Amino acid sequence: MDLMEYQAKELFAKHGVATTLGTVVTTPEEARTAAEEYGFCVVKAQVKAGGRGKAGGVKLAKTPDDAFEAASAILGMQIKGLTVNRVLVTPATPPVEEYYFSFLLDRSNRQYLCIASVEGGVEIEEVAKTNPDAVKQIPINPGTGVDADKAREIATEAKFPEAVFEQAVEMIESLYKVFVEEDATLVEVNPLARLEGDRLEALDGKVSLDDNASEVRHPDHEQFEIKDETDPLEAKAKAKGLNYVKLDGEVGIIGNGAGLVMSTLDVVAYAGEAHGGVKPANFLDIGGGANAEVMANGLDVILGDEQVKSVFVNVFGGITACDEVANGIKGALEILGDSATKPLVVRLDGNNVDKGRAILDELNHPLVTQVPTMDGAADKAAELANG
Ligand SMILES: Nc1ncnc2c1ncn2[C@@H]1O[C@H](COP(=O)(O)OP(=O)(O)OP(=O)(O)O)[C@@H](O)[C@H]1O
Ligand SMILES: [Mg+2]
Repeated sequence: MDLMEYQAKELFAKHGVATTLGTVVTTPEEARTAAEEYGFCVVKAQVKAGGRGKAGGVKLAKTPDDAFEAASAILGMQIKGLTVNRVLVTPATPPVEEYYFSFLLDRSNRQYLCIASVEGGVEIEEVAKTNPDAVKQIPINPGTGVDADKAREIATEAKFPEAVFEQAVEMIESLYKVFVEEDATLVEVNPLARLEGDRLEALDGKVSLDDNASEVRHPDHEQFEIKDETDPLEAKAKAKGLNYVKLDGEVGIIGNGAGLVMSTLDVVAYAGEAHGGVKPANFLDIGGGANAEVMANGLDVILGDEQVKSVFVNVFGGITACDEVANGIKGALEILGDSATKPLVVRLDGNNVDKGRAILDELNHPLVTQVPTMDGAADKAAELANG
């Protein structure tokens, strides 16, 4: 589960990481009231997406009226397809310097990884590209973890300035507590700010909690679930029993089998590079029994995503043979009727492939293009999404 900034900051405070909690509100009036207490303040969109500042979701407010205006502008705004329902109002504490700090689970190396940079702020990805030496990656042995000595080693490697060095060491130890004691897979602070008077504070926070720990080790994490923040498409897919994850691209993906869908995402992302950088819009595994109803439900969810420009149906017939899948697609298009409006690229292969392809050839539906290979179909779907 990913947390909102204000929730991440609650965990920071619990473990002694210097931060300012502020007040979470849902209306401009409440923002004004909060600002009356704080004076000069920041109004920040609370959504589970990065790049809020760039999207206009972080605004400084000098007066309570400014805070009212800022909250009016931010509430209801869309950031990366998510609607802003809450804003966090906190006292403004303009940073003198901005650093980046994170702990994350490095699955492929079976260890934790610390990433730290004294060139933080909003553009850390850019720094990593243009000046990779400024972004330090420090492996952490999960067995020994981060004690005071290791924290000192990290702060030295990251080159935290003398004036805030001891505070950095302390904060690194506290952030590690958040990471380990809360069973997080990511704890990120950007910016970790040096404020006037050389005070270090976490001005932003991103925490992902490991759901595997939620039931037994952390029943307390249930408090972080915000029902009205679940993505509506994901909620719809869940209600229909579909294995769906919304992503940020333009090419809708339907496949049978998680492995095939995962590799379809890769192939589409690669093909997209030649077509304006289009990307997969979702993960959707319709599993073994790809009948008309399941196919229609899947298509219905994907077509409901405004960002989707084309759909790639990638099926390898096994126990459910290609002709059954082709009939599923045919049935789905009948069920959806006029609500099916986006081009579908279908790649069928495997059991009964000839029968399956023949069914779609005969259907001769204006939205459906068949391409026999996975790479070819990915290319076609990316091309259609870009056009
Ligand atoms: N309390 C504050 N006082 C003054 N400036 C702030 C405060 N909080 C944030 N800022 C400024 O706003 C910038 C963006 O804030 P923040 O990091 O919270 O959002 P973001 O980086 O755009 O969001 P995300 O991390 O989701 O991409 C910070 O880099 C900082 O310069
Ligand atoms: Mg940030």
